[in-house]
This record gives sequence, C-alpha cells and structure tokens, in this order.
Amino acid sequence: MDKNRKLIIAGNWKQNKTAAEAHDLVVGLKRELGTVKEVDIVVCPPFTALNEVSKLVLDSNIWLGAQNMSEHNTGAYTGEIGAGMLKEFSVRYVILGHSERREYQKESDALVSAKLQAAHGASLKPIVCVGETLTEREANQTEEVLARQLKGSLAGITGELMEETIVAYEPVWAIGTGKVATPDQAQAVHAFIRSKISELFNPSVAKHVRIQYGGSVKPGNTRELMSQPDVDGALVGGAALEVRSFSDIIKNSI
Ligand code: PGA
Repeated sequence: MDKNRKLIIAGNWKQNKTAAEAHDLVVGLKRELGTVKEVDIVVCPPFTALNEVSKLVLDSNIWLGAQNMSEHNTGAYTGEIGAGMLKEFSVRYVILGHSERREYQKESDALVSAKLQAAHGASLKPIVCVGETLTEREANQTEEVLARQLKGSLAGITGELMEETIVAYEPVWAIGTGKVATPDQAQAVHAFIRSKISELFNPSVAKHVRIQYGGSVKPGNTRELMSQPDVDGALVGGAALEVRSFSDIIKNSI
C-alpha cells in the first residue's frame, strides 16, 4: 500500500451465485461495509446476476464489475457479451485474462489486449490478470512469463489509459489452493511488474497503476499482504463468496 494509490479489493465470484443468492450476499456486504471510504470495493458476479446486483449497489460504496467481456462491441458472436451491454447495468470494472480463461478458453495475450482496448473504448476500467504457474516458478521463469504477459496484454493503449487500468498479479499456484504467496514474494513480483510498466509506458504511469494480489487471499493474511509498498489491493475468489470473510478482508486492509 502506498498512500498515493487507493486500495482496490474486488470479489471474483466466478461461476457461483444465482441472482437470489447474489441479492443476499450484497445486502449483507452493504450492511457490513456501508461506512468504508478508504477502499474501492468491487463485486464481480456472473453476467446473470448483474441486473440484480446493479440495482442493489446503486448509491452505495460498492462498484460493479464483470468477469469477462467480448473484444467485439456487437455482432454475430454467439454467446458473447459486449462492453455496451455491461454498461447498461452500470458495470464499471471488468476482469480480463483471468488465468482460468487463459487455461480453459485458451485466451491469448493478443486477445486480452483486444479486450483491453474495447473496454477502454467503453470507459470500463479493466483488471488485467497475469501470473505464472508452479512449473514456471520452479523453473525460475516467473519474470520472463510476466514480462511476456504484460507486454502482450497491455499492448495498444496509451499511458493515460494505462493509469486507469488495474493489473492483478495472480500466481496460478496460489489460486484456490490455500497456498498464498508470502508477503515478500508478492512484494518482489509487484515491484517487478511496476518496473515493467515503467519500461512499457513511463515511470509516472507506473507510479499511478494499482496492482492487486490474488490467490488464496483470506481475512487472516490480508493485513500483511496489503502492507507491502507495491500491493494496492486484492482480487479475491473463494473468500468473496461469504459476507463475513469478504467484509473482514476489506476491514483488515484498512
Ligand atoms: P482464490 O481465487 O481467492 O479462490 O484463490 C482468486 C482468483 O482466482 O481471482
């Protein structure tokens, strides 16, 4: 955390929660977190719950995010959802290139970059995910992999738009495994990511970009992770599905 960058903590609900379940979760979050001003709080429900959640978060301190979007605005792309459709529900953030999409939907850096440009074109704030697998970390390829992902995924935007982009560092080996990166490991990688952004854009842009950590974030490890100078928030999966754990993460980050 650096006082010049506001913390941003987002809940990535993945393929969980019906609209009715989403309703209950968000009502609980509003009750617990209504007075929090220090953190940008974001919830990213599945598309089918966006309508319900958008009505509940109106006039609250909770922002709405989506988990993915199409690189195309409209057209013959069966099953896809475009940025304009998300804007209809007051969506403000969109997660792009999550490792699960990179793995299961074979999303490439080039595709993530196309989505990034489409998101900015609609004034959505993208959260671009990067991260190495366990095999890559053990082969000492972490920096090489991240450098490649950052260069490819962040291509095609100006420095000004980069400042509005959030990067989420999510080591694949830490996602849903209970194996969290140590605060030192996270800080080292976040500092590396910031240096790469400085190279790809410029030092001033790098200073403004918020970099979230994701992968087994829980109430008990939040404080230490958020106290690292280059960690500016969290992208939370499993622990974002319950009122108690997600609101404790937010409270412990302050
Ligand atoms: P996790 O997921 O918190 O359940 O590890 C994080 C993510 O995939 O964004």
